[in-house]
Amino acid sequence: MADNNKSFGSSTQAVHAGTLRNPAGGVNSPLYADSAYHYLDAEQVRYPRYTNTPNQQAVAAKIAALEQAEQGLMFASGLAAVHTVLQAHLQPGDELVVAEGIYGGSDDLFATCMPRLGISITRAAADADALLAACGEHSKAIYLESPTNPRLRIIDLHKICQQANQRGVLVIIDNTFATPILQNPIKLGADIVIHSATKYLGGHSDLIAGAVVCSAALMQPIRALAVRMGASMNAQTACLLERSLKTLAVRVHQQCANARRLAVWLQQQDQIEAVDYPGLPEHPGHQIASQQMLDFGGMLGLRVRAPLTAELVERRLQLISSAVSLGGVESTICQPLLTSHARVAAQRREAEGVDAYLLRLSVGIEDVEDLIADLAQALRST
Ligand SMILES: Cc1ncc(COP(=O)(O)O)c(C=O)c1O
Repeated sequence: MADNNKSFGSSTQAVHAGTLRNPAGGVNSPLYADSAYHYLDAEQVRYPRYTNTPNQQAVAAKIAALEQAEQGLMFASGLAAVHTVLQAHLQPGDELVVAEGIYGGSDDLFATCMPRLGISITRAAADADALLAACGEHSKAIYLESPTNPRLRIIDLHKICQQANQRGVLVIIDNTFATPILQNPIKLGADIVIHSATKYLGGHSDLIAGAVVCSAALMQPIRALAVRMGASMNAQTACLLERSLKTLAVRVHQQCANARRLAVWLQQQDQIEAVDYPGLPEHPGHQIASQQMLDFGGMLGLRVRAPLTAELVERRLQLISSAVSLGGVESTICQPLLTSHARVAAQRREAEGVDAYLLRLSVGIEDVEDLIADLAQALRST
């Protein structure tokens, strides 16, 4: 396996880190599809559910190198990763402080499953001071995204990590929107970083996977529970994800460049009431995002003006696909109201501005002029 040399840049790590030696002389990691491994005289007992087969380990090593973390562990989905991390680190009686406006599936998991485990949930605005102020005697961890899904709110990661650390509160960050190319929360003091690898890490809308990176000490209970939970990733997906990660940096840079152009163009359209994009100077999180992110990402929120509705725009688009999920090379658009946030309580959804006028655009790597032309025809007033 290639060394995870910390002096390499992230584009180099994306290509090389974790690659398995190929006995046939090929340059790629071979696929080991086995679910049964000889164990007598072996260094360890390998089994896919233990998440220690060669392809699972190779892709975990690549993501850990990209996030500058000591260890990585792969899961069958992003939500399996979130669930396992929380159950491994929180006990009955503990409180989890959660940022408002995160991915609806995580929000739903916290609302339904955590109370059953005796873990209470306290929600606070997606802001470092608000989240820290919400921490009480029983707070064990803060869970957040930055940028958040779908409104792209930005939280000061350095501030929250430093102050939470002083109080002995873990900071768990879902870094799916930013990707390790744009933001490394571990470097800013985060304890545990989670990815839905289904999104940018996979990048081609053809796999589902999750990843966790953190220190060896924090990983130990996560790994132990993962073996029991059984939400492991298969070897074929690991291989496909490893291949996809090689182009992560080039994809993300192109997505950022396209998103920046689109954000500025969308802002100038009469039919658009508001654009959420941290790269715009007037975005409330612009300054903090400039400090903690290398670029502003490929996700945009846009609010259309009546009589247009989000659905009408979606139905008119011809190049940009109306689809759930995000982070692919193809641009996709969805209404969070009907998709990612459908299971969030209506009142909290409304407070977050998730309604029939809000669209979430995941910008792909196409020619930006083609994306602009497609949006222009879909936003027409007649
Ligand atoms: C920010 C974020 N985190 C986590 C998840 C869950 O990931 P998965 O669908 O891979 O379980 C998603 C899915 O959309 C997401 O957008």
